[in-house]
Formats: sequence, C-alpha cells, structure tokens
Amino acid sequence: MIMTSRLRKFALAAHITLAVGWIGAVAGYIALDVAAATSQDAQTLRAAYLAMEVIAWYVIVPLALASLLSGLVMSVGTKWGLFRHYWVLISLLLTIIATVVLVVETQTISHFADIAADPTTSGDDLGALGSTLVHSAGGTVVLLVILVLNVYKPRGMTRYGWRKQQEERRNKEFG
Ligand code: HEM
Repeated sequence: MIMTSRLRKFALAAHITLAVGWIGAVAGYIALDVAAATSQDAQTLRAAYLAMEVIAWYVIVPLALASLLSGLVMSVGTKWGLFRHYWVLISLLLTIIATVVLVVETQTISHFADIAADPTTSGDDLGALGSTLVHSAGGTVVLLVILVLNVYKPRGMTRYGWRKQQEERRNKEFG
C-alpha cells in the first residue's frame, strides 16, 4: 500500500498543514486563555470563555483528529510503517494522549462557556472560574516534541521493524 511519489507529496502537504495548524490554533486559544486567567473585566472574561469554546470545538478538536488520521496515512502509506520506527510509534502515542486529554478538557471549556453565556453571572463569578492554561501550555510542549520528532526522524527501529527489513532484503535477493 505504498503511495506513489506524487500522492505522497500531496498527503504530506495535507498532514503538515493539519498538524502544524493544530499548533497554531492552540496558540490562538492560549491568547484567550491568558486573558481568562488575568483579566478582571467581566466583558473580556465573557468574550474569552465563549470564544475558547468555539475554537476548541470547531478548530482544535477537528485538527487534532485530522492530524492523527493523516499521520496514520503517512505511516501506513510510506516505507516508514506504523510499528517499525520508534519515532513513529512515539508520535502516534503522544498524539493519541494529547487528543484524549483535549477531548476530556472540552468538557471543562464548555462548562466555563455555559457560565459565561449566562447574563446573570457577575464579573466576580467569571473571575473565579480559572483557566485551562496548564493544559493548553502543556499540550503545546507535547505537540512541539512530536513536531521535532517528525522532522528529525531519529534512527531507532523496533524489533518488528528489524524483522520486516530482513524479510524484505531476503525477498529481494532470492525473489
Ligand atoms: C501533532 C502531531 C504531529 C505533528 C506536528 C507532525 C508533524 C510532521 C511534520 C512537520 C512532518 C514533515 C517532516 C519532514 O518530512 O521533514 C511529518 C511527517 C510525518 N509524520 Fe507527522 N506529525 C504529527 C503527527 C503524526 C502522527 C500521529 C503520525 C503517525 C501515526 C505521524 C507520522 C508521520 C510520518 C510517517 C511522516 C513522514 C512522511 C514521509 O516522509 O513520507 N505524524 N509530520
């Protein structure tokens, strides 16, 4: 199921756009998260929480799922494989963990947004809500680690990867 060179280029462009877009979307989210954590102003807090929910649900979650999916396509559709190289396996694992944490976190974000949407809540109520900064900043670090891993592609094959490579060499020699 190895992709042709042209198809691979196209899929890679899509994968990079989606995955790096994920990081960019989180950067935008963090700006609002910082406002939510530091502002005392009711209007600013209300606007920040409502916008955070929209960005999380309609931009960040779709980009996370699309990064995971396109990463799977890039692995299965190229010589890299999904289980042959440690960098691919670690990327897969970290992306799954980041996505799960994100989806769980959307519950908190929606809870904050529900309170912000209620016009009877005061500035003090909103100020007491807190932020999701630990998750958004921590998530960014994890995404950057994946990015660097994917660009450097450090050597290091799994046992399965070694076995497959031996098999393929043997098939080339005798097949
Ligand atoms: C936040 C998540 C991710 C980011 C930021 C990311 C970023 C990137 C980038 C920038 C490249 C291009 C590197 C280059 O060719 O120089 C790349 C390639 C690649 N990524 Fe990802 N990636 C992510 C998730 C994943 C996942 C989950 C997988 C595997 C399941 C994966 C598998 C691959 C593979 C196999 C390539 C190489 C494709 C090729 O050279 O044909 N990526 N990724």
